[in-house]
Amino acid sequence: MSDFHDHLATPAYKTSKAALNMLTAQYAQQYARDGFTVLAISPGWLCTDLGTDQADISVEKGAEKVLDIIQKATPDQNGKFLNICVPKSETRNGDPNEELEVKNGLLYASQ
Ligand SMILES: NC(=O)c1ccc[n+]([C@@H]2O[C@H](COP(=O)([O-])OP(=O)(O)OC[C@H]3O[C@@H](n4cnc5c(N)ncnc54)[C@H](OP(=O)(O)O)[C@@H]3O)[C@@H](O)[C@H]2O)c1
Repeated sequence: MSDFHDHLATPAYKTSKAALNMLTAQYAQQYARDGFTVLAISPGWLCTDLGTDQADISVEKGAEKVLDIIQKATPDQNGKFLNICVPKSETRNGDPNEELEVKNGLLYASQ
């Protein structure tokens, strides 16, 4: 794990996210035969109360991109974890409203 996360111990928080991944896998398996596609999506680092105004992506843009992924989801994505990722997020100081584009299931800030 990177040095960036050293000061963010939060073991209960991280354990809850691991549990969410298992819940996603379980529901994906259980409901696939009924035609459901179940995904876990990490929205990237958003400017919420938790994320602070130092984050990469505005709440509006983050919500828009999560909805976009959900609306375009296909059965072959069942059980997958999709991560909205802004390259070099840990070191950059970007504009949370800049245009983002989806590439290979990941979301990148356009360069
Ligand atoms: N922001 C990010 O960058 C980011 C990235 C990845 C994942 N997430 C995940 O997205 C989820 C929402 O995060 P956020 O950034 O939107 O956080 P947030 O702005 O701090 O909002 C948290 C929300 O949870 C509610 N809440 C807190 N404790 C609660 C409790 N005990 N019972 C019921 N509701 C409770 C709060 O209600 P009140 O307003 O009434 O306090 C608030 O509406 C979290 O699971 C977080 O891990 C966020």
